[in-house]
This record gives sequence, C-alpha cells and structure tokens, in this order.
Amino acid sequence: MTVETETKEKADPQFRADVLNGLKGPRRAIPARWLYDRRGSELFDDITRLPEYYPTRSETALLDMIADDLRRHIGAGGAVIEFGAGSVTKTPLLLRAVAPRAYVPIDISGDYLRSEAAGLKAEFPDLPIWTVEADFTAVVDLPHRTASLPKLGFFSGSTIGNFVPRSAVDLLRTMRQTLGEGAMLLIAFDRVKPLDVLIPAYDDAAGVTAAFNLNLLERINRELDGTIPISGFVHEAIWNDRESRIEMHLRARRDMEFAVCGRSFAMKAGESIHTENSHKFDLRSARTLLSAGGWTAKAEWSSADNGFSLILAQAMPVYDAPKSQD
Ligand code: AVJ
Repeated sequence: MTVETETKEKADPQFRADVLNGLKGPRRAIPARWLYDRRGSELFDDITRLPEYYPTRSETALLDMIADDLRRHIGAGGAVIEFGAGSVTKTPLLLRAVAPRAYVPIDISGDYLRSEAAGLKAEFPDLPIWTVEADFTAVVDLPHRTASLPKLGFFSGSTIGNFVPRSAVDLLRTMRQTLGEGAMLLIAFDRVKPLDVLIPAYDDAAGVTAAFNLNLLERINRELDGTIPISGFVHEAIWNDRESRIEMHLRARRDMEFAVCGRSFAMKAGESIHTENSHKFDLRSARTLLSAGGWTAKAEWSSADNGFSLILAQAMPVYDAPKSQD
C-alpha cells in the first residue's frame, strides 16, 4: 500500500493525475488546459492585447469584414452554438452578422458563462441566451428548444490548434454529433507564417506569455503542494516544423529536485516540460482536417495578409462512394 500526502481539497483529481503523470521523464508534458485557471485566463486576456499577438486582432477584423457574407451564407433565425465562452469582441460581431434566434455558449466554467451572458444581455436585450455548462470535448446535450432551429457552431481563436491532429479530428467529430447533420460550423485557423512573426507572438517583449506559462508551476505549487523552484525555469517558444506548430516549454536552467503531492522529481539542466501546442495551418491542411472530422468546407475567408482564416463548413452525410481505395 502506498501512503500519499493529502492534497488541498480544491485540487482537481484530474489535474493531480495529469501533473504527476506529466512530470515523469523522459518526455515531460502537461495538458494545456491546466494553463487556464483564474490567473491564467487573466494573463491570456492580456496576451490578446499584446502588440505581438496578432490572432485576436486578425480574427476580429476578419469577422467585421465578412459580416454581410456570413449573413448571406447562414441566414437569420438559427441558433449559434459557441464552443468555449465567447470573446467580448468577437461574439457580438458574429451575433450582429447572423441575427440568430438564440445564442448557446458551452463552457466548462459556469462562472465565465454567467459573466459572459450578463455582458451580452445588455448589448442584445432581445436575444435568448441559453448557457450550457459542459466539457465540449464530449458530446453535449443541447437545450431542447434548439431542436427545431438550424444550427451554426462557432469555434474561434484557432483553439483547434491546441489539439494534435488525432485529437482535433475526434473533437470535430464530436462537435458534428453535438450539432447534428446539416449543421454549419464557423471555425478559425491560424496560418503558417514567417518565424519572425510567429515566435514573438508566443514570446513577447513584455514577458506576459512567459508569466502565463510559468503560472502553471505556481498553480502546481499552490494546489498540489508543490515545491517547484519557479526561478529555475525559463519560458520558451519554439517552432516544430515537422508538426507545423509552436510549442511552449518550461526549460530547467539548472539541475533540480522538487516534490509535488509528496512525490519527488528530478530534472537536469536543459530538460523541459512541454506545456502547449499551437498548430498552424495552410488552407489545404485545414480542409483535410475538417473532412477527416466529417465537415465539408463551403466558404473560406482570410485576413488581408493571409495570416488568419475562417472556414464555414457543413456537416455532410457520409458518402461511401467512391471507395477510399479508388
Ligand atoms: C487560446 C489556444 C488560441 O494558441 O494562440 C496564446 C493560446 N498560448 N499564447 C494560441 C496561447 C500562448 C492560444 N489559444
């Protein structure tokens, strides 16, 4: 029988399991979702306003530019289902463009949902907002009132890029199941671009992204009785060309030993903990990913510099002919 020190009651058992498992060498990695505690979400908010972090500005400008197109393609009177609590700038642009019958934000954090709903209520007093507190990586039961309405899913921010392709395909299939056949999906893809633009976006001069990454260690120390020496780590953003993604790492500057939940870990100088992936796409790879997930691209829009794209896709019935070997 193993005896383990008791951790603080607020610790999420999945967080504990992911961290203890992720810190085991030789390839250390902790799932990116744990970056987004309250402090992490505040820091991410700050990131979206950094001069180097182009995605939020690009997507907002793009949504504004294509509002009329969206209305033509989608039409009014459906339900907009947003995966993840909406952004205060992007969601209103979409809602104004397509004038839906209802807005259904799905998020794992009820707090976020409630504050978002309150903010939107003031701007859209006549729009019914039906919040759903759920993990959208599993099939979500939508409110019954949406049953008769045409559905538009919205997955913004290029958050699909957080998932390795195998998981991204799972997620797209799950969204297809949540929304149903015939539904549409408006999904954002950040594009491959020169490294002198990409790297600073994930390693900014003010050090906000570094603080965002390092906050994970602080969270571990706080919630899992960790003794990690934060100053022993540096934030790193690297481009993995084979996988077409930015990777965030926390790299050890020296040999060290620390404990988490009463277990001991050792790291050597130069070893890292991989904390986030942000895949970058070209339009062909984006379409292929969508079609692997059961979606057919119907329309595409890109920012003026081609640095960011939105694709409107439709959940198509699966046709078996021509056979895959044809
Ligand atoms: C929230 C996943 C879209 O990958 O650009 C930003 C997260 N991490 N800077 C991204 C992030 C560091 C962001 N997404």
